[in-house]
Amino acid sequence: ENKEGKNAFVGSVDQGTSSTRFLVFTKKGEIAAWSQMEQTQTFPSGEDKVGWHEHDPLEIWNDVKQCMSEVDRILETNNIQFEIEAIGITNQRETTVAWNAKTGTPYYNAIVWDDTRTNHIASQVAAGDPDRLREKTGLPLASYFAGTKVKWLLENVSELQKDLKEKPEEVRFGTIDTWLLYQYTGSPSTAKGAGNINGLFLTDVSNASRWLFCDIEKVEWDQELVNAVCSPYQVPLSVLPEIRSSSEVYGKTTKDATGVGTMEGVPVAGILGDQQAALFGQTAFQPGEAKNTYGTGMFLMMNTGTKLVPSNHGLLTTIGYQIGADGPVTYALEGSVSHSGSTIQWLRDQLQIIDDAPESETLATEHNDGLYFVPAFAGLFAPHWRADARACIVGMTASHHKGHVCRAALEAVAYQAKEVFDAIYKDSNVLLKNLKVNGGGTNNKLLMQFQADIINVPVITPHIMETTAMGAAFAAGLAVGFWKDTDEIKALWSVASTFTPSMKEVDRAKNCYGWQKAISKSLDWIE
Ligand code: G3P
Repeated sequence: ENKEGKNAFVGSVDQGTSSTRFLVFTKKGEIAAWSQMEQTQTFPSGEDKVGWHEHDPLEIWNDVKQCMSEVDRILETNNIQFEIEAIGITNQRETTVAWNAKTGTPYYNAIVWDDTRTNHIASQVAAGDPDRLREKTGLPLASYFAGTKVKWLLENVSELQKDLKEKPEEVRFGTIDTWLLYQYTGSPSTAKGAGNINGLFLTDVSNASRWLFCDIEKVEWDQELVNAVCSPYQVPLSVLPEIRSSSEVYGKTTKDATGVGTMEGVPVAGILGDQQAALFGQTAFQPGEAKNTYGTGMFLMMNTGTKLVPSNHGLLTTIGYQIGADGPVTYALEGSVSHSGSTIQWLRDQLQIIDDAPESETLATEHNDGLYFVPAFAGLFAPHWRADARACIVGMTASHHKGHVCRAALEAVAYQAKEVFDAIYKDSNVLLKNLKVNGGGTNNKLLMQFQADIINVPVITPHIMETTAMGAAFAAGLAVGFWKDTDEIKALWSVASTFTPSMKEVDRAKNCYGWQKAISKSLDWIE
């Protein structure tokens, strides 16, 4: 309770690829109330639009507002007097929005991180060397990153192109964290169907490291990088958000910004990209500690401390977090996999062999009986970074049935994590002692057990399953003194369950060999 006898909470917005959530946490790290809305997925149709994936930025902001209002209603209904001491934002990373600061109107839909329309831009910039910008950015050239999406927007949205030339001071580019902070701290626009205007224009170090524009050692935007990606367009650094730490008071939510009285004047005090938020929420504060998140995609990330570890094995060198403007910048190695939960969604929506995700577990056979499924629907991310790879199911015989396909789909998730797990060892010489996991996929016990079997270390789920939202709440709470320090936070984390490896070495080797063969088919598909 705070001084006025009200319950003190920290709020967290978790704006992910498939949903938007608002949660409020107690000092003990318990969830006091939460609300969630599904995000509408737009896949523009047409032969020339294969691989396109968009979100409506105004829908995202409206959903945030609605979730906050729902949380407010829940707390009020339960007669809980409360005060939100700070709000943290965590977001799907790389998803890019451009908007006009004077009208509050987006120039175009947000281009989602897994959208592949910018493959050609990435390969043009690469000019035969996808690692051309790696030294400064830690990233390979791929459609995944925000910079290529900026170039596409400039090339294809004439109003944006015109405004950038004639009135660049009105143009804003941002990832979803920046868009939301802008809305939170702005005031309603008079333009019809617009968001707020005049909000703060900031991002945090973790999101900044995902553009291909940030020199991650200096932790600042680099005009040369911007030019390398966006040429021939002139993009001044003023259209990019200011880079700040992940935990500090950026500003306060303004009156009428959210439409929820109890959420006015609240410090917005934490921003973390969702995977970095999960790392922080798992309290993986020490170098060599790692987490894996099973969501739409899958992201295995290991803290490397203040050391920037370059990757020679297909991982990303990225910024983990920075706690406080004067705090050290913590780096991480990351293996990003584009299709994890979305593979199970594909079984449900496209193949229609299951009604819901849990059915993939009940239907899955005990063994794969030689069947492998590589879900390279939009190419392969880490550690291959091959936009031209294609999905395949191999090793099929007439005795296989849908249970085998379910099994192979679940195994594919685990094998992809294994590839990243091995790359982390090769790049850093760190052999992870265990793997802390979170995300929807962790409800699948078969997957978790198989994961432990394949990487041959225990897989651990935490008590607080809302690890990502918790991470952003931690960052915000630390900035306002709601939690004292990372030791206090660490004490809130505890193990819920452990999956211990039990597969024989000879079986593991046989299984992994089969996966390698399947991967080679997927990589060889397009000449
Ligand atoms: O890099 C993309 C990642 O941040 C998306 O995460 O959980 O929204 O699929 P998720």
